[in-house]
Amino acid sequence: MSVNKEVKRVTTNTLQKMKNAGEKISMLTAYDFSFAKIIDSAGIDVILVGDSASNVMAGHETTLPITLDQMIYHASSVIRGVERCLVVVDLPFGSYQSNSDIALASAIRIMKETGAHSVKMEGGEEVIDSIRKIVSAGIPVMGHLGLIPQSIYKFGTYAVRAKGGTEADKLRRDAKLLEEAGCFAIVLEKIPAELAKEVSESLTIPTIGIGAGGDCDGQVLVMHDMLGINTEFKPRFLRQYLNIHELAVKGVQQYISDVKSGDFPNDQEQY
Ligand code: KIV
Repeated sequence: MSVNKEVKRVTTNTLQKMKNAGEKISMLTAYDFSFAKIIDSAGIDVILVGDSASNVMAGHETTLPITLDQMIYHASSVIRGVERCLVVVDLPFGSYQSNSDIALASAIRIMKETGAHSVKMEGGEEVIDSIRKIVSAGIPVMGHLGLIPQSIYKFGTYAVRAKGGTEADKLRRDAKLLEEAGCFAIVLEKIPAELAKEVSESLTIPTIGIGAGGDCDGQVLVMHDMLGINTEFKPRFLRQYLNIHELAVKGVQQYISDVKSGDFPNDQEQY
């Protein structure tokens, strides 16, 4: 999409100003041109091209299978649909964990080949060198702590993380490390609301929560879940705003019935 000079774009600075002013940040996932256009025109602040594309677009059980090339395809489609919001792209599993040179190379590919504005990475201390290197190269990085789905086989469960003890202490330390390394925001996923509040208040950069309570500086949901496109995933933290699955099934059934009965196409629907 060509740049419309009348539209004031959301940048990482905008998000910082929003936190400073106490204005909440709205973020949703998108993976394709058409939905990115809908979400951007509705006024969202941030689109995350999440590696949840592995689940909701490709039907995989986890986020692990999606590749860097596939993320680049999704992100470049999203960018073409966006005029205003900030676009963050997940670095997928395997594209940054080996070492910081590989991580930087992956982040550079995303920025060069998609036109996106920033990347997101899961983890704290373990990936801090890579985050520092990517930030030094001028690429904005969003962190992600708590339930980090790329580590699902380490956790063995999608249950709430950091309920106390050493795991909660590590999350507090990691959040500070990410801020010091130059992250512009941090996603907090599925952690106790009390801990998310404490971390959000202790950081100067914004936190974006998913299943982390109302005291984060912003909220993110997977678009397919909140619009009811995918109706099988119903965690407690999800609010479903529409039931597009039901509407779409009704529409398709009506179409089938119209084709079978000969009602479609009618005289006006032909040449
Ligand atoms: O991939 C994704 O959609 C995410 C969100 C759940 C934060 O990382």
